[in-house]
Amino acid sequence: MPTAVVRPRPRVTVTRRLPEAVEARLARDYTPLFNGDDHGFTAAEWPERCRDADAVLCTPVDRMDAAVLAALPASVRIIATYSVGHNHIDVAAAQARGIVVTNTPDVLTDATADVALLLLLGAARRAAEGEALMRRRGWSGWRPTQLLGTQVAGKSLGIVGLGRIGGAVARRAAAFGMRIHYLSAEARELPGVELRHHRDEAGFWPLCQFLSLHLPLTETTRGFLDARRLAQLPRGAIVVNTARGDVVDDDALIAALRSGQVGAAGLDVFTAEPDFRAEYAALPNTFLLPHLGSATVETRCAMGFRALDNLDRFFAGYDPHDRIRPVSPAGS
Ligand code: DGY
Repeated sequence: MPTAVVRPRPRVTVTRRLPEAVEARLARDYTPLFNGDDHGFTAAEWPERCRDADAVLCTPVDRMDAAVLAALPASVRIIATYSVGHNHIDVAAAQARGIVVTNTPDVLTDATADVALLLLLGAARRAAEGEALMRRRGWSGWRPTQLLGTQVAGKSLGIVGLGRIGGAVARRAAAFGMRIHYLSAEARELPGVELRHHRDEAGFWPLCQFLSLHLPLTETTRGFLDARRLAQLPRGAIVVNTARGDVVDDDALIAALRSGQVGAAGLDVFTAEPDFRAEYAALPNTFLLPHLGSATVETRCAMGFRALDNLDRFFAGYDPHDRIRPVSPAGS
């Protein structure tokens, strides 16, 4: 009788602790190389951590730049990031080495859109100031003039980047009675939601009483929300960012928050996380969260399972569903 070939289970370097159910599936189907104390790898640590690994399961806080990728052992054939964003990976450098890169779209759309609405409402209704007052036991009682915020119903929300998350934000905001405008080269429809499409920036910014950013971070979108664009918003506009901190020019936003050009900002993402500009914490008109967009038990498990589905397909010899394709150079 022929003997069955027993293939060794692929070895997966797992850069951070993951929800229990995800780690259990990893341990069942792979040989995981876990990072017990959950620290971020230093650049020097990567080669050792990935020694003999077939795959890396990384997260958005693991910077896999060209130098890190160049130092990976040749055994690594796939990087599955536990995130939809992939700006932390030099995808072109990975592809040049023949390493497949995958992400986890779809599964975090609702959770992230919920946080965008939380930020929008929190910033509009001065939730941070109200909460701080309660925690320091400083509330002296209801007053007709206390902590007055801005109503959202009937206001216009401008969305930059009407992809999956931007679309989910549009649906939610429409249910709150907001009018939805979006800036995009292409028109898009969302069943049941009235949308106004803007191809030109000039007509878009002055309509944005609220603005929510849903742009991927690329070299083109870095610093996108700058002083010139902020100056075109209606005075007192409310800005929400759940995309990436770097799509905002921090100096410009801080100046606009100080001058009142921007009335308030709800921010879940920051340049140089976990560090962020001290001014944001010092200003009263900010509502800040520590990158919690996808942070629900359901979503963080779904992200892990989605990353594992990609690894499963890859090691079964198929193309993973969420493979990030190379961006073709213009004209090619
Ligand atoms: C992502 O997946 O890119 C998010 O930022 C994680 O919450």
